[in-house]
Amino acid sequence: MQAMRLVPFFEYAALFVAQEADFAATFSEVGRRGAFIKQKDLADFERSLASFVGVSHALGVGNATDGLEVAVAAIGVGRGDEVILSSHTMLATAVGIHFAGAKPVPVECGPDHLIDPAAVEAAVSSRTRAILPTQLNGRTCDMDALGGIAGRYGLLIIEDAAQALGSRYKGRCAGSFGAAGVISFYPAKTLGCLGDGGAVVTNDRGVYERASELCNFGRNAAGEVVRWGFNSRLDNLQAAMLQFQLDKYGNTICRRRRLAALYTERLSDVAEVALPPAPDSDPDHFDIFQNYEIESERRDDLKEHLKDCGVGTLIQWNGEAIHHLTALGFTQRLPYTDRLFSRMLMLPMNVSLSDDDVDYVCGHIRSFFGYSGFGHSGFGHSDFGYSR
Ligand SMILES: Cc1ncc(COP(=O)(O)O)c(C=O)c1O
Repeated sequence: MQAMRLVPFFEYAALFVAQEADFAATFSEVGRRGAFIKQKDLADFERSLASFVGVSHALGVGNATDGLEVAVAAIGVGRGDEVILSSHTMLATAVGIHFAGAKPVPVECGPDHLIDPAAVEAAVSSRTRAILPTQLNGRTCDMDALGGIAGRYGLLIIEDAAQALGSRYKGRCAGSFGAAGVISFYPAKTLGCLGDGGAVVTNDRGVYERASELCNFGRNAAGEVVRWGFNSRLDNLQAAMLQFQLDKYGNTICRRRRLAALYTERLSDVAEVALPPAPDSDPDHFDIFQNYEIESERRDDLKEHLKDCGVGTLIQWNGEAIHHLTALGFTQRLPYTDRLFSRMLMLPMNVSLSDDDVDYVCGHIRSFFGYSGFGHSGFGHSDFGYSR
């Protein structure tokens, strides 16, 4: 019997308290300069972010939802066009496509919870202009397969990398594959600010310029109004707070991968749960574990049991896939995703967790399914590290 402890799913205050001195110093320093809108800290952070992702341009925006709309519009997709996305994504992905004037077409995901390339190809129509894969849970999709489909049908790719800053496929960072990528700095993200924030990243100067204009009332770099636009910016203060966290982001990723490895180690013999791929299980993928999403046939009972034990869990998107949102006009039937949505559950995954917290969560999952103790002792891995 384990002593009761509380393991919340996520604690916003803990995020702040752990770095309170740095947040306070930045607040004070930026505040005393009166540098709130479009100042040097934002430009510096945009440069650092672009370099981290491995692209030539980054544009800070108000949030990733704005970023998605701007990215879709900036690559020239709009009215009359269809854009294929995974049904297992945040509503924001579809919202971005919709408000850019195009039609979101949700398709099935596969066993790794990421968009299924075969389903993408089956959904291509004469109106399809782009594929918008979500690099979900901190794992990058099979970009070779998606790139192949895009090439065959003359489609563009935009990445929803809101959950995947630093995630890599074959050594390349999420956000750097398509015509544009979008990142979120929502507080619970792996790199989070104290409020809303996001960025559009791209290697295409024209896309960057159009996105900048769209976010700045349609004004170009010379200040002339050249199109309709709106106002969406990453606050200078938030950018400064993101910068000091980006400087140590390698440690953050390393810690998340270590927690994921612990979960794998502690649960791999529990036949009643399906785990996400372990950190070092596939050389093509470097996952950053924004989330740790498991599957179980007895998901609802397990969730209740963990709640009784003081463990917070979450069902992503309130349990609603994009194609379930019939009020928005979706009519697709996606049985694989339907089944997944009756099974999936996110366990706590954040840098406030201790190894003992993970042991506690896993101990209660094991006892729920009638397993005793831990199946293994110690770690076979010596390094869950981040290097690039
Ligand atoms: C996959 C995905 N796309 C888009 C978003 C939207 O991000 P934001 O809250 O910055 O608009 C999120 C945020 O949770 C997300 O997880």
